[in-house]
Amino acid sequence: MRVLIVYESLYGTNRTIARAVAAGLGGAAATIVEAYVAPSTIDADVDLVVVGGPNHKAGLPRPSTRAEAAAESGGTLHTAERGLREWFGDLRFARRGQPAAVWDTRMGSPRILDLFDRSAAVIAGRLRHAGARLVDKPRKFYSADGKGALVAGDEERARAWGAELAGLIRRG
Ligand SMILES: Cc1cc2nc3c(=O)[nH]c(=O)nc-3n(C[C@H](O)[C@H](O)[C@H](O)COP(=O)(O)O)c2cc1C
Repeated sequence: MRVLIVYESLYGTNRTIARAVAAGLGGAAATIVEAYVAPSTIDADVDLVVVGGPNHKAGLPRPSTRAEAAAESGGTLHTAERGLREWFGDLRFARRGQPAAVWDTRMGSPRILDLFDRSAAVIAGRLRHAGARLVDKPRKFYSADGKGALVAGDEERARAWGAELAGLIRRG
C-alpha cells in the first residue's frame, strides 16, 4: 500500500500528527511531505493521500498569517508564500476517485471558535475538486498552546486513526 501524507505546519503540531498517522498505518509505505514541496500531480498508484494543516483565522494559512506565526515564534519559515492553500491551486489526481482523508488542528477554545474553524472542511472540498474521494470524515486535533503541543491523547488518537485508515483502504 502506497500512502502520501501532506501537511503544513508552522510550529510542528501538524508534523507530529503526520508522523503519528504514518506510524498508525503500520506496514504501509508512507511518504510524509510538507505542502510547499508536495508534488502537484498525485501518481495513479498512490492508494491513499492524507492531508492536514492548522486553522489560521478560522481557515487555511495565508502568507500573512504564516509570517505572523513566524514572527511570534521567532522561528524559521521555509516560505510564507507556499503551503496547502497554494498547493491546492496546482493539484490534480492522475486517477479519478483516488482515496483521501483529511485533518486539521485548532485551539478548541473558546468553544464557540471551534464552530468557525473550517480548515479541514476546506481541505476536503479542495481534494474533492481535484478528483479525490474522501474515505472518512474530516478529523480535528487540538493544540494545547497554539504553539506545537497537542492536548493529551491526541497524538495517540492520530496513530489510531492511521490504523483505521489502513483498514479502510485494505477492505477497499
Ligand atoms: C496567525 C494565527 C492565527 C490563528 N487562528 C486560529 C483560529 O482562528 N482558530 C484556532 O483554533 N486556532 C488558531 N490559531 C492557532 C493554530 O491553530 C495553531 O497554532 C496550530 O493549530 C498549530 O499547528 P502547527 O504547529 O502545525 O502550525 C492561529 C495561529 C496563528 C499563528
